[in-house]
Amino acid sequence: MKAVYLVLFAWAVVGVGAKAWPADSEVLRPRVPVDQIESARAVTNPFPVTPEMREKGKALFEGKAFCRACHGADGKGLGMDLDYSTFKGPLPRNFTDKLWQQARTDGELFWILKNGSPGTDMAPFIPLVLTEEEAWQVLMYVRSFDGR
Ligand code: HEC
Repeated sequence: MKAVYLVLFAWAVVGVGAKAWPADSEVLRPRVPVDQIESARAVTNPFPVTPEMREKGKALFEGKAFCRACHGADGKGLGMDLDYSTFKGPLPRNFTDKLWQQARTDGELFWILKNGSPGTDMAPFIPLVLTEEEAWQVLMYVRSFDGR
């Protein structure tokens, strides 16, 4: 009998824990199509991550690349003065979400800047708005939102 209570107790603890911290499977679902994800993940940042490179990335994020308009100066995905009801897909990502940061490789994020996120308002930025080097600088800044 005691064993039954123990099992029920363990089940309740695990169950409640799972409800309190749901993995947001829609946010974490890879954006890169299955047939390209292996090659996308194989791509790595060829530039050194330095405070200077991040500063350049910040200037691009807030300036000519207008990431800030949708992603917000705080990276939480709620830019200023935008009517999100016009967005055709999901809202911009919350870059301070550590689970999301861990789920994505640099190569996947670089793929997004090249291809956009199909079916959403996240458009491609390379090569029309950003060079590849600038894209890596912006991504260094995106990475810094999780406190690293
Ligand atoms: C017009 C609004 C808009 C602008 C401007 C914009 N984004 Fe996005 N971004 C989005 C939306 C919406 C999503 C969510 C797409 C999805 O759920 O697949 C997104 C998603 C992303 C993602 C996450 C993709 C993933 O794998 O989860 C990254 C990284 C990103 N944007 C970076 C940038 C950068 C860097 C810039 C500037 C160069 C930028 N975005 C500009 C709307 C925008």
